Amino acid sequence: MTLPAFEPKIIVNNDKCTIEGNTLKSKYTYTSNLVTKNDSTNSYIVDTVKKDYEFNVDLNLPKLGIMLVGLGGNNGTTLLASVLANKNNLEFYSKNFKGLKKANYYGSVTQSSTIKLGIDPKTNDEIYVPFTDILPLSNPNDFVITGWDISDLNCFEAMQRACVLEHDLQMQLKDEMEKIKPLKSIYYPDFIALNQNERANHCFNRKSEAEGNKDPLSLDGLTKNKWSHVEQIRDDIRNFKKENNLDKVIVLWTANTERYSTIEAGVNDNADNLLNAIKNDHSEVSPSTIFAVASILEGVPYINGSPQNTFVPGVIDLAEREHSFIAGDDFKSGQTKMKSVLAQFLVDAGIKPLSIASYNHLGNNDGFNLSSPMQFKSKEISKRGVCDDMIESNQILFNDKVGKTIDHCIVIKYLNAVGDSKVAMDEYYSELMLGGHNRISIHNVCEDSLLATPLIIDLLVMTEFCTRVTYKKLGEGATDYEQFYPVLTLLSYWLKAPLTRPGFKPINGLMKQRAALENFLRLLIGLPPLDDLRFEERLI
Ligand code: NAI
Repeated sequence: MTLPAFEPKIIVNNDKCTIEGNTLKSKYTYTSNLVTKNDSTNSYIVDTVKKDYEFNVDLNLPKLGIMLVGLGGNNGTTLLASVLANKNNLEFYSKNFKGLKKANYYGSVTQSSTIKLGIDPKTNDEIYVPFTDILPLSNPNDFVITGWDISDLNCFEAMQRACVLEHDLQMQLKDEMEKIKPLKSIYYPDFIALNQNERANHCFNRKSEAEGNKDPLSLDGLTKNKWSHVEQIRDDIRNFKKENNLDKVIVLWTANTERYSTIEAGVNDNADNLLNAIKNDHSEVSPSTIFAVASILEGVPYINGSPQNTFVPGVIDLAEREHSFIAGDDFKSGQTKMKSVLAQFLVDAGIKPLSIASYNHLGNNDGFNLSSPMQFKSKEISKRGVCDDMIESNQILFNDKVGKTIDHCIVIKYLNAVGDSKVAMDEYYSELMLGGHNRISIHNVCEDSLLATPLIIDLLVMTEFCTRVTYKKLGEGATDYEQFYPVLTLLSYWLKAPLTRPGFKPINGLMKQRAALENFLRLLIGLPPLDDLRFEERLI
Protein backbone atom coordinates (compact mmCIF):
# COMPACT_ATOMS: atom_id res chain seq x y z
CA MET A 1 0.00 0.00 0.00
CA THR A 2 1.23 3.47 -0.84
CA LEU A 3 0.13 6.63 0.93
CA PRO A 4 -0.98 9.67 -1.14
CA ALA A 5 1.85 11.32 -3.07
CA PHE A 6 3.34 14.64 -2.03
CA GLU A 7 1.85 17.90 -3.31
CA PRO A 8 4.87 20.20 -3.78
CA LYS A 9 4.52 23.38 -1.73
CA ILE A 10 7.73 24.93 -3.02
CA ILE A 11 8.42 25.55 -6.70
CA VAL A 12 12.02 26.46 -7.40
CA ASN A 13 12.33 28.42 -10.64
CA ASN A 14 15.52 27.00 -12.09
CA ASP A 15 16.59 24.05 -14.22
CA LYS A 16 18.16 22.07 -11.39
CA CYS A 17 15.15 20.07 -10.38
CA THR A 18 12.28 18.32 -12.19
CA ILE A 19 9.51 15.91 -11.24
CA GLU A 20 9.07 12.88 -13.49
CA GLY A 21 6.14 10.73 -12.42
CA ASN A 22 6.73 9.97 -8.78
CA THR A 23 10.42 10.78 -8.85
CA LEU A 24 12.00 14.11 -8.07
CA LYS A 25 15.24 14.53 -10.01
CA SER A 26 17.84 17.12 -9.17
CA LYS A 27 21.31 18.02 -10.32
CA TYR A 28 23.94 19.31 -7.95
CA THR A 29 27.58 20.24 -8.34
CA TYR A 30 29.45 19.34 -5.17
CA THR A 31 32.54 21.41 -4.48
CA SER A 32 35.29 20.05 -2.25
CA ASN A 33 38.40 21.93 -1.27
CA LEU A 34 41.35 19.55 -1.10
CA VAL A 35 44.04 20.91 1.18
CA THR A 36 47.71 19.95 1.20
CA LYS A 37 49.95 21.29 3.91
CA ASN A 38 53.50 22.24 3.12
CA ASP A 39 55.26 21.63 6.44
CA SER A 40 58.53 23.30 5.45
CA THR A 41 56.89 26.66 4.65
CA ASN A 42 53.95 26.13 7.02
CA SER A 43 51.55 27.00 4.23
CA TYR A 44 48.61 25.34 2.50
CA ILE A 45 47.68 24.60 -1.09
CA VAL A 46 43.97 24.28 -1.79
CA ASP A 47 42.59 22.61 -4.89
CA THR A 48 38.92 23.11 -5.58
CA VAL A 49 37.36 20.05 -7.15
CA LYS A 50 33.85 19.91 -8.55
CA LYS A 51 31.75 16.80 -9.06
CA ASP A 52 28.35 16.66 -10.71
CA TYR A 53 25.66 14.46 -9.24
CA GLU A 54 22.11 13.60 -10.12
CA PHE A 55 19.81 12.72 -7.24
CA ASN A 56 16.48 10.93 -7.36
CA VAL A 57 13.93 11.06 -4.57
CA ASP A 58 11.08 8.60 -4.62
CA LEU A 59 8.09 10.78 -3.75
CA ASN A 60 5.88 7.87 -2.68
CA LEU A 61 5.49 7.58 1.06
CA PRO A 62 5.54 3.98 2.25
CA LYS A 63 3.34 2.42 4.89
CA LEU A 64 6.00 2.37 7.58
CA GLY A 65 6.37 -0.06 10.46
CA ILE A 66 8.49 0.76 13.49
CA MET A 67 9.92 -1.94 15.75
CA LEU A 68 11.42 -0.67 19.00
CA VAL A 69 13.73 -2.83 21.05
CA GLY A 70 12.76 -1.75 24.57
CA LEU A 71 9.12 -0.90 23.70
CA GLY A 72 8.11 -1.21 27.37
CA GLY A 73 10.68 1.35 28.57
CA ASN A 74 10.32 5.07 29.24
CA ASN A 75 11.25 6.07 25.70
CA GLY A 76 9.37 3.19 24.08
CA THR A 77 6.06 3.89 25.80
CA THR A 78 6.46 7.67 25.44
CA LEU A 79 7.00 7.28 21.69
CA LEU A 80 3.93 5.09 21.32
CA ALA A 81 1.86 7.44 23.50
CA SER A 82 3.00 10.56 21.65
CA VAL A 83 2.06 9.06 18.29
CA LEU A 84 -1.37 7.95 19.52
CA ALA A 85 -2.00 11.28 21.25
CA ASN A 86 -1.12 13.29 18.12
CA LYS A 87 -2.93 10.95 15.76
CA ASN A 88 -6.12 11.22 17.83
CA ASN A 89 -5.70 14.98 18.42
CA LEU A 90 -5.94 14.42 22.17
CA GLU A 91 -6.25 17.28 24.62
CA PHE A 92 -5.51 16.80 28.29
CA TYR A 93 -5.29 18.60 31.62
CA SER A 94 -1.91 19.24 33.18
CA LYS A 95 -0.94 21.09 36.35
CA ASN A 96 1.56 23.02 34.23
CA PHE A 97 -1.05 24.76 32.06
CA LYS A 98 -4.37 26.54 32.40
CA GLY A 99 -7.03 24.75 30.41
CA LEU A 100 -6.44 21.93 27.98
CA LYS A 101 -3.10 21.11 26.40
CA LYS A 102 -3.16 19.84 22.82
CA ALA A 103 -0.84 17.00 21.85
CA ASN A 104 2.19 18.16 19.87
CA TYR A 105 5.63 17.09 18.70
CA TYR A 106 7.73 19.84 20.28
CA GLY A 107 11.41 18.94 20.32
CA SER A 108 11.23 17.18 16.97
CA VAL A 109 13.22 18.92 14.24
CA THR A 110 11.24 17.32 11.45
CA GLN A 111 7.83 18.05 13.01
CA SER A 112 8.36 21.34 14.83
CA SER A 113 11.21 23.26 13.22
CA THR A 114 11.58 25.34 10.07
CA ILE A 115 14.15 25.81 7.34
CA LYS A 116 15.14 29.12 5.77
CA LEU A 117 14.01 29.21 2.17
CA GLY A 118 15.21 32.64 1.15
CA ILE A 119 14.34 36.30 1.40
CA ASP A 120 11.18 38.31 0.61
CA PRO A 121 12.23 40.81 -2.12
CA LYS A 122 9.77 43.45 -0.89
CA THR A 123 10.52 43.43 2.83
CA ASN A 124 13.98 41.77 2.89
CA ASP A 125 12.59 39.50 5.61
CA GLU A 126 13.89 35.94 5.79
CA ILE A 127 11.26 33.35 4.83
CA TYR A 128 11.11 30.08 6.76
CA VAL A 129 8.98 27.04 6.00
CA PRO A 130 8.25 23.92 8.05
CA PHE A 131 10.81 21.14 7.60
CA THR A 132 8.02 18.91 6.32
CA ASP A 133 7.20 21.33 3.45
CA ILE A 134 10.50 20.79 1.65
CA LEU A 135 10.05 17.16 0.61
CA PRO A 136 7.67 14.30 1.43
CA LEU A 137 8.53 12.90 4.84
CA SER A 138 6.72 10.14 6.71
CA ASN A 139 4.19 11.46 9.19
CA PRO A 140 4.77 9.91 12.65
CA ASN A 141 0.97 9.77 13.08
CA ASP A 142 1.00 7.06 10.39
CA PHE A 143 3.68 4.90 12.04
CA VAL A 144 2.57 1.34 12.76
CA ILE A 145 4.42 0.53 15.97
CA THR A 146 5.41 -2.64 17.76
CA GLY A 147 8.56 -3.89 19.48
CA TRP A 148 10.23 -6.22 21.89
CA ASP A 149 10.80 -6.05 25.63
CA ILE A 150 12.16 -8.41 28.25
CA SER A 151 9.41 -7.19 30.58
CA ASP A 152 5.91 -8.54 30.04
CA LEU A 153 3.84 -5.48 30.97
CA ASN A 154 1.43 -4.23 28.35
CA CYS A 155 2.13 -0.72 27.08
CA PHE A 156 -0.42 0.95 29.38
CA GLU A 157 1.08 -0.69 32.48
CA ALA A 158 4.57 0.11 31.21
CA MET A 159 3.60 3.77 30.60
CA GLN A 160 2.30 3.95 34.18
CA ARG A 161 5.55 2.41 35.46
CA ALA A 162 7.53 5.02 33.50
CA CYS A 163 5.81 8.01 35.23
CA VAL A 164 6.58 10.33 32.32
CA LEU A 165 3.19 11.50 31.06
CA GLU A 166 0.38 13.41 32.73
CA HIS A 167 -2.21 11.21 34.41
CA ASP A 168 -5.08 12.61 32.33
CA LEU A 169 -3.25 11.81 29.11
CA GLN A 170 -2.36 8.31 30.33
CA MET A 171 -5.99 7.56 31.10
CA GLN A 172 -7.13 8.79 27.68
CA LEU A 173 -4.59 6.47 26.07
CA LYS A 174 -5.42 3.48 28.27
CA ASP A 175 -7.66 1.54 25.87
CA GLU A 176 -5.26 1.70 22.94
CA MET A 177 -2.05 1.26 24.93
CA GLU A 178 -3.19 -1.77 26.89
CA LYS A 179 -3.95 -3.64 23.68
CA ILE A 180 -0.28 -3.45 22.72
CA LYS A 181 2.08 -5.91 24.40
CA PRO A 182 5.75 -6.19 23.51
CA LEU A 183 7.05 -9.27 21.73
CA LYS A 184 9.31 -11.54 23.76
CA SER A 185 12.97 -10.59 23.53
CA ILE A 186 16.39 -12.02 24.34
CA TYR A 187 18.14 -11.55 27.64
CA TYR A 188 21.88 -12.06 28.09
CA PRO A 189 22.40 -10.94 31.72
CA ASP A 190 26.10 -10.35 31.18
CA PHE A 191 25.36 -7.27 29.03
CA ILE A 192 22.93 -5.11 31.02
CA ALA A 193 23.07 -4.39 34.75
CA LEU A 194 22.13 -7.29 37.01
CA ASN A 195 19.61 -4.99 38.67
CA GLN A 196 17.45 -5.49 35.56
CA ASN A 197 17.05 -9.22 36.19
CA GLU A 198 13.67 -8.95 37.92
CA ARG A 199 12.27 -7.16 34.91
CA ALA A 200 13.36 -9.94 32.54
CA ASN A 201 10.28 -12.17 32.66
CA HIS A 202 9.41 -12.04 28.96
CA CYS A 203 12.31 -13.59 27.07
CA PHE A 204 12.28 -16.32 24.49
CA ASN A 205 15.60 -17.61 25.81
CA ARG A 206 14.29 -17.91 29.37
CA LYS A 207 11.85 -20.65 30.30
CA SER A 208 8.76 -19.49 32.18
CA GLU A 209 7.16 -21.16 35.19
CA ALA A 210 4.55 -22.68 32.84
CA GLU A 211 7.41 -24.24 30.87
CA GLY A 212 8.67 -26.00 33.99
CA ASN A 213 11.21 -23.46 35.24
CA LYS A 214 10.74 -23.47 39.03
CA ASP A 215 12.39 -20.08 39.49
CA PRO A 216 11.70 -18.08 36.31
CA LEU A 217 14.13 -15.35 37.34
CA SER A 218 17.01 -17.75 37.96
CA LEU A 219 19.96 -17.10 35.69
CA ASP A 220 20.22 -20.88 35.19
CA GLY A 221 16.92 -20.86 33.32
CA LEU A 222 18.44 -19.23 30.24
CA THR A 223 18.78 -21.17 27.01
CA LYS A 224 21.53 -20.68 24.45
CA ASN A 225 21.64 -20.92 20.64
CA LYS A 226 22.22 -17.33 19.54
CA TRP A 227 21.63 -18.16 15.89
CA SER A 228 18.08 -19.23 16.73
CA HIS A 229 17.67 -15.80 18.35
CA VAL A 230 18.66 -14.12 15.07
CA GLU A 231 16.14 -16.31 13.28
CA GLN A 232 13.38 -15.56 15.78
CA ILE A 233 13.92 -11.81 15.40
CA ARG A 234 13.96 -12.14 11.61
CA ASP A 235 10.65 -14.02 11.84
CA ASP A 236 9.21 -11.27 14.05
CA ILE A 237 10.19 -8.61 11.50
CA ARG A 238 8.74 -10.60 8.59
CA ASN A 239 5.50 -11.37 10.45
CA PHE A 240 5.00 -7.76 11.48
CA LYS A 241 5.53 -6.63 7.90
CA LYS A 242 3.13 -9.20 6.52
CA GLU A 243 0.39 -8.90 9.13
CA ASN A 244 0.26 -5.11 8.74
CA ASN A 245 0.80 -4.99 5.01
CA LEU A 246 3.81 -2.72 5.43
CA ASP A 247 6.09 -1.42 2.68
CA LYS A 248 9.05 -0.77 4.99
CA VAL A 249 10.18 -1.48 8.53
CA ILE A 250 12.81 0.24 10.69
CA VAL A 251 14.22 -1.33 13.86
CA LEU A 252 15.48 1.00 16.61
CA TRP A 253 17.25 0.02 19.84
CA THR A 254 15.97 2.02 22.81
CA ALA A 255 16.54 -0.78 25.31
CA ASN A 256 18.92 -0.62 28.24
CA THR A 257 22.52 0.41 27.79
CA GLU A 258 24.74 -2.64 27.48
CA ARG A 259 28.37 -3.02 28.43
CA TYR A 260 30.94 -2.77 25.64
CA SER A 261 31.74 -5.96 23.76
CA THR A 262 35.43 -6.65 23.38
CA ILE A 263 36.62 -6.65 19.80
CA GLU A 264 38.36 -9.94 19.16
CA ALA A 265 40.13 -11.11 16.02
CA GLY A 266 38.27 -14.09 14.60
CA VAL A 267 35.10 -13.26 16.55
CA ASN A 268 33.57 -9.94 15.58
CA ASP A 269 36.21 -8.36 13.35
CA ASN A 270 34.48 -9.12 10.05
CA ALA A 271 31.09 -10.28 8.82
CA ASP A 272 31.90 -13.96 8.35
CA ASN A 273 33.61 -14.26 11.72
CA LEU A 274 30.70 -12.57 13.41
CA LEU A 275 28.13 -14.85 11.79
CA ASN A 276 30.23 -17.86 12.85
CA ALA A 277 30.60 -16.47 16.37
CA ILE A 278 26.81 -16.21 16.62
CA LYS A 279 26.43 -19.77 15.36
CA ASN A 280 29.01 -20.89 17.96
CA ASP A 281 27.22 -19.03 20.79
CA HIS A 282 30.22 -16.81 21.49
CA SER A 283 29.84 -14.95 24.77
CA GLU A 284 30.96 -11.58 23.34
CA VAL A 285 27.95 -11.27 21.02
CA SER A 286 25.49 -8.91 22.69
CA PRO A 287 21.69 -8.82 22.29
CA SER A 288 21.93 -5.49 20.45
CA THR A 289 24.36 -7.02 17.95
CA ILE A 290 21.95 -9.94 17.47
CA PHE A 291 19.16 -7.43 16.68
CA ALA A 292 21.45 -5.50 14.31
CA VAL A 293 22.48 -8.66 12.45
CA ALA A 294 18.88 -9.86 12.15
CA SER A 295 17.80 -6.45 10.81
CA ILE A 296 20.66 -6.28 8.31
CA LEU A 297 19.91 -9.79 7.06
CA GLU A 298 16.28 -8.72 6.60
CA GLY A 299 17.43 -5.56 4.74
CA VAL A 300 15.79 -3.40 7.37
CA PRO A 301 17.50 -0.20 8.67
CA TYR A 302 18.76 -0.51 12.26
CA ILE A 303 19.36 2.47 14.56
CA ASN A 304 21.18 2.24 17.88
CA GLY A 305 19.93 4.77 20.44
CA SER A 306 22.18 3.57 23.25
CA PRO A 307 25.90 4.01 23.76
CA GLN A 308 27.23 0.45 23.56
CA ASN A 309 29.38 -0.71 20.62
CA THR A 310 26.66 -2.76 18.93
CA PHE A 311 28.34 -1.92 15.64
CA VAL A 312 31.44 -4.05 16.07
CA PRO A 313 33.50 -4.16 12.83
CA GLY A 314 31.73 -7.36 11.79
CA VAL A 315 28.35 -5.58 11.84
CA ILE A 316 29.61 -2.69 9.71
CA ASP A 317 31.15 -5.21 7.31
CA LEU A 318 27.85 -7.10 7.12
CA ALA A 319 25.86 -3.90 6.53
CA GLU A 320 28.24 -2.99 3.69
CA ARG A 321 27.94 -6.45 2.20
CA GLU A 322 24.13 -6.52 2.42
CA HIS A 323 23.71 -2.82 1.48
CA SER A 324 21.56 -2.34 4.58
CA PHE A 325 21.40 0.91 6.54
CA ILE A 326 22.69 1.37 10.09
CA ALA A 327 23.08 4.44 12.31
CA GLY A 328 24.13 5.19 15.88
CA ASP A 329 25.16 5.60 18.61
CA ASP A 330 23.24 7.02 21.59
CA PHE A 331 20.53 9.67 21.33
CA LYS A 332 21.99 13.18 21.66
CA SER A 333 19.26 14.66 23.81
CA GLY A 334 20.33 16.99 26.62
CA GLN A 335 23.71 17.58 28.17
CA THR A 336 25.73 16.40 25.17
CA LYS A 337 23.57 18.39 22.78
CA MET A 338 24.31 21.53 24.80
CA LYS A 339 27.98 20.60 24.85
CA SER A 340 28.07 20.19 21.10
CA VAL A 341 26.82 23.78 20.84
CA LEU A 342 28.62 25.43 23.74
CA ALA A 343 32.07 23.89 23.34
CA GLN A 344 31.92 24.62 19.61
CA PHE A 345 30.91 28.22 20.38
CA LEU A 346 33.82 28.68 22.80
CA VAL A 347 36.39 27.23 20.42
CA ASP A 348 34.99 29.16 17.44
CA ALA A 349 35.08 32.35 19.53
CA GLY A 350 38.78 31.77 20.20
CA ILE A 351 38.14 31.10 23.89
CA LYS A 352 39.99 28.09 25.26
CA PRO A 353 37.90 25.59 27.25
CA LEU A 354 40.18 24.17 29.95
CA SER A 355 37.75 21.86 31.68
CA ILE A 356 34.19 20.64 31.38
CA ALA A 357 32.62 18.99 34.40
CA SER A 358 29.32 17.22 33.71
CA TYR A 359 27.24 15.86 36.57
CA ASN A 360 23.92 14.07 36.16
CA HIS A 361 21.45 12.50 38.48
CA LEU A 362 18.31 10.72 37.43
CA GLY A 363 15.85 8.30 38.96
CA ASN A 364 14.42 6.37 36.04
CA ASN A 365 15.24 2.81 35.01
CA ASP A 366 17.91 4.04 32.59
CA GLY A 367 19.64 5.65 35.60
CA PHE A 368 19.22 2.45 37.62
CA ASN A 369 20.88 0.44 34.86
CA LEU A 370 23.67 3.03 34.51
CA SER A 371 24.42 2.76 38.23
CA SER A 372 26.30 -0.39 37.32
CA PRO A 373 29.96 0.37 36.42
CA MET A 374 30.22 -1.50 33.11
CA GLN A 375 27.08 0.12 31.69
CA PHE A 376 28.12 3.55 33.00
CA LYS A 377 31.44 3.05 31.18
CA SER A 378 29.60 2.73 27.83
CA LYS A 379 27.77 6.02 28.52
CA GLU A 380 30.95 7.74 29.63
CA ILE A 381 32.75 6.76 26.41
CA SER A 382 29.87 8.00 24.30
CA LYS A 383 29.69 11.34 26.15
CA ARG A 384 33.47 11.88 26.28
CA GLY A 385 34.33 12.17 22.58
CA VAL A 386 32.02 15.09 21.78
CA CYS A 387 34.74 17.78 21.84
CA ASP A 388 37.41 15.88 19.90
CA ASP A 389 36.71 17.44 16.50
CA MET A 390 36.44 20.90 18.06
CA ILE A 391 39.87 20.52 19.68
CA GLU A 392 41.35 19.37 16.38
CA SER A 393 39.80 22.32 14.56
CA ASN A 394 41.80 24.99 16.43
CA GLN A 395 45.58 24.63 16.53
CA ILE A 396 45.97 28.05 18.15
CA LEU A 397 44.14 27.01 21.32
CA PHE A 398 45.19 23.35 21.25
CA ASN A 399 48.69 22.35 20.22
CA ASP A 400 51.69 20.36 21.46
CA LYS A 401 53.04 23.32 23.46
CA VAL A 402 49.90 24.36 25.34
CA GLY A 403 48.20 20.96 25.39
CA LYS A 404 45.70 19.24 23.15
CA THR A 405 43.03 18.21 25.64
CA ILE A 406 40.16 19.57 27.67
CA ASP A 407 39.86 18.13 31.20
CA HIS A 408 36.52 16.44 30.94
CA CYS A 409 34.74 14.60 33.72
CA ILE A 410 31.39 12.84 33.51
CA VAL A 411 29.44 11.68 36.54
CA ILE A 412 26.06 9.93 36.51
CA LYS A 413 24.29 9.04 39.76
CA TYR A 414 21.04 7.20 40.31
CA LEU A 415 18.67 9.09 42.58
CA ASN A 416 15.33 7.30 42.71
CA ALA A 417 13.36 10.30 43.99
CA VAL A 418 13.77 12.49 40.89
CA GLY A 419 12.31 9.85 38.56
CA ASP A 420 12.44 10.74 34.87
CA SER A 421 13.28 14.38 35.69
CA LYS A 422 16.94 14.24 34.96
CA VAL A 423 19.20 16.88 36.46
CA ALA A 424 22.30 17.87 34.50
CA MET A 425 24.82 20.32 35.92
CA ASP A 426 27.70 21.47 33.77
CA GLU A 427 30.59 23.77 34.40
CA TYR A 428 32.65 25.10 31.49
CA TYR A 429 35.89 26.64 32.72
CA SER A 430 37.77 28.53 30.02
CA GLU A 431 40.81 30.70 29.55
CA LEU A 432 40.38 34.27 28.32
CA MET A 433 43.02 36.69 27.06
CA LEU A 434 45.94 37.71 29.25
CA GLY A 435 45.36 35.01 31.84
CA GLY A 436 41.67 35.70 32.54
CA HIS A 437 39.15 32.97 33.22
CA ASN A 438 35.52 32.39 32.43
CA ARG A 439 33.17 30.00 34.23
CA ILE A 440 29.81 29.10 32.70
CA SER A 441 27.48 26.98 34.84
CA ILE A 442 24.39 25.29 33.51
CA HIS A 443 21.68 23.65 35.56
CA ASN A 444 19.20 21.80 33.41
CA VAL A 445 16.18 19.82 34.61
CA CYS A 446 13.74 18.12 32.28
CA GLU A 447 11.78 14.96 31.62
CA ASP A 448 14.46 12.82 30.00
CA SER A 449 12.09 10.83 27.84
CA LEU A 450 10.30 13.93 26.55
CA LEU A 451 13.64 15.09 25.20
CA ALA A 452 14.59 11.72 23.75
CA THR A 453 11.28 10.71 22.13
CA PRO A 454 11.13 13.55 19.55
CA LEU A 455 14.68 12.58 18.56
CA ILE A 456 13.54 9.02 17.98
CA ILE A 457 10.79 10.36 15.73
CA ASP A 458 13.32 12.40 13.75
CA LEU A 459 15.70 9.47 13.43
CA LEU A 460 12.91 7.29 12.09
CA VAL A 461 11.53 9.92 9.71
CA MET A 462 14.95 10.78 8.29
CA THR A 463 16.10 7.16 8.06
CA GLU A 464 13.02 6.33 6.02
CA PHE A 465 13.69 9.39 3.86
CA CYS A 466 17.30 8.29 3.23
CA THR A 467 16.03 4.95 1.91
CA ARG A 468 14.18 6.85 -0.86
CA VAL A 469 17.20 8.82 -2.10
CA THR A 470 19.49 7.50 -4.84
CA TYR A 471 22.23 9.23 -6.80
CA LYS A 472 24.47 8.91 -9.80
CA LYS A 473 27.85 10.56 -10.47
CA LEU A 474 27.58 12.34 -13.79
CA GLY A 475 30.27 12.26 -16.44
CA GLU A 476 32.02 9.17 -15.11
CA GLY A 477 30.13 6.61 -17.15
CA ALA A 478 27.95 5.56 -14.18
CA THR A 479 24.64 4.15 -15.37
CA ASP A 480 23.17 2.81 -12.12
CA TYR A 481 21.78 4.86 -9.28
CA GLU A 482 23.36 4.12 -5.91
CA GLN A 483 21.99 4.36 -2.39
CA PHE A 484 23.74 6.18 0.45
CA TYR A 485 26.72 4.46 2.07
CA PRO A 486 25.20 2.07 4.69
CA VAL A 487 26.31 4.10 7.74
CA LEU A 488 23.83 7.00 7.69
CA THR A 489 26.01 9.81 9.05
CA LEU A 490 23.46 12.38 7.89
CA LEU A 491 21.61 11.45 11.09
CA SER A 492 24.52 12.57 13.33
CA TYR A 493 22.53 15.59 14.56
CA TRP A 494 20.53 13.24 16.80
CA LEU A 495 23.42 11.02 17.93
CA LYS A 496 25.88 11.52 20.75
CA ALA A 497 28.73 9.47 19.33
CA PRO A 498 28.05 9.36 15.59
CA LEU A 499 29.12 6.14 13.95
CA THR A 500 31.16 6.99 10.88
CA ARG A 501 32.31 5.28 7.76
CA PRO A 502 35.66 3.60 8.51
CA GLY A 503 38.43 6.13 7.75
CA PHE A 504 36.32 9.19 8.70
CA LYS A 505 36.15 11.05 12.01
CA PRO A 506 32.83 12.11 13.51
CA ILE A 507 31.58 15.70 13.24
CA ASN A 508 29.98 16.55 16.59
CA GLY A 509 29.21 20.28 16.33
CA LEU A 510 25.41 20.56 16.33
CA MET A 511 25.24 23.52 13.93
CA LYS A 512 27.46 21.77 11.40
CA GLN A 513 25.27 18.70 11.64
CA ARG A 514 22.12 20.75 11.15
CA ALA A 515 23.64 22.65 8.20
CA ALA A 516 24.39 19.33 6.47
CA LEU A 517 20.77 18.23 6.86
CA GLU A 518 19.25 21.53 5.72
CA ASN A 519 21.57 21.90 2.76
CA PHE A 520 20.98 18.36 1.64
CA LEU A 521 17.21 18.89 1.59
CA ARG A 522 17.70 22.22 -0.20
CA LEU A 523 19.89 20.80 -2.93
CA LEU A 524 17.33 18.10 -3.64
CA ILE A 525 14.77 20.77 -4.56
CA GLY A 526 17.30 22.72 -6.60
CA LEU A 527 18.37 25.31 -4.03
CA PRO A 528 22.03 26.14 -3.26
CA PRO A 529 23.39 25.64 0.30
CA LEU A 530 22.62 28.36 2.82
CA ASP A 531 25.54 30.72 3.31
CA ASP A 532 23.93 33.63 5.19
CA LEU A 533 26.06 36.07 3.18
CA ARG A 534 23.16 38.58 2.98
CA PHE A 535 24.69 40.57 0.11
CA GLU A 536 21.28 42.27 -0.32
CA GLU A 537 22.06 44.17 2.85
CA ARG A 538 25.81 44.32 2.88
CA LEU A 539 26.77 45.36 -0.65
CA ILE A 540 25.86 48.71 -2.19
P1 NAI B 1 14.24 2.21 30.17
O1 NAI B 1 15.08 1.44 31.11
O2 NAI B 1 13.03 2.89 30.68
O3 NAI B 1 13.77 1.28 28.97
C1 NAI B 1 14.56 0.28 28.43
C2 NAI B 1 13.69 -0.91 28.17
O4 NAI B 1 14.49 -1.89 27.51
C3 NAI B 1 13.16 -1.57 29.42
O5 NAI B 1 11.74 -1.69 29.34
C4 NAI B 1 13.81 -2.94 29.44
O6 NAI B 1 12.98 -3.92 30.00
C5 NAI B 1 14.08 -3.16 27.99
N1 NAI B 1 15.16 -4.10 27.63
C6 NAI B 1 16.37 -4.30 28.20
N2 NAI B 1 17.06 -5.24 27.54
C7 NAI B 1 16.29 -5.63 26.51
C8 NAI B 1 16.45 -6.56 25.46
N3 NAI B 1 17.54 -7.30 25.34
N4 NAI B 1 15.45 -6.70 24.57
C9 NAI B 1 14.31 -5.96 24.67
N5 NAI B 1 14.10 -5.07 25.65
C10 NAI B 1 15.07 -4.90 26.55
O7 NAI B 1 15.24 3.26 29.48
P2 NAI B 1 14.88 4.56 28.61
O8 NAI B 1 14.87 5.73 29.50
O9 NAI B 1 13.72 4.27 27.78
O10 NAI B 1 16.20 4.65 27.73
C11 NAI B 1 16.45 3.67 26.75
C12 NAI B 1 17.86 3.77 26.22
O11 NAI B 1 18.03 5.03 25.58
C13 NAI B 1 18.94 3.67 27.30
O12 NAI B 1 20.01 2.89 26.83
C14 NAI B 1 19.40 5.08 27.45
O13 NAI B 1 20.73 5.19 27.90
C15 NAI B 1 19.24 5.59 26.03
N6 NAI B 1 19.16 7.03 25.99
C16 NAI B 1 18.13 7.69 26.61
C17 NAI B 1 18.09 9.04 26.60
C18 NAI B 1 16.98 9.80 27.23
O14 NAI B 1 17.03 10.99 27.29
N7 NAI B 1 15.96 9.17 27.72
C19 NAI B 1 19.14 9.85 25.96
C20 NAI B 1 20.18 9.06 25.36
C21 NAI B 1 20.15 7.71 25.36
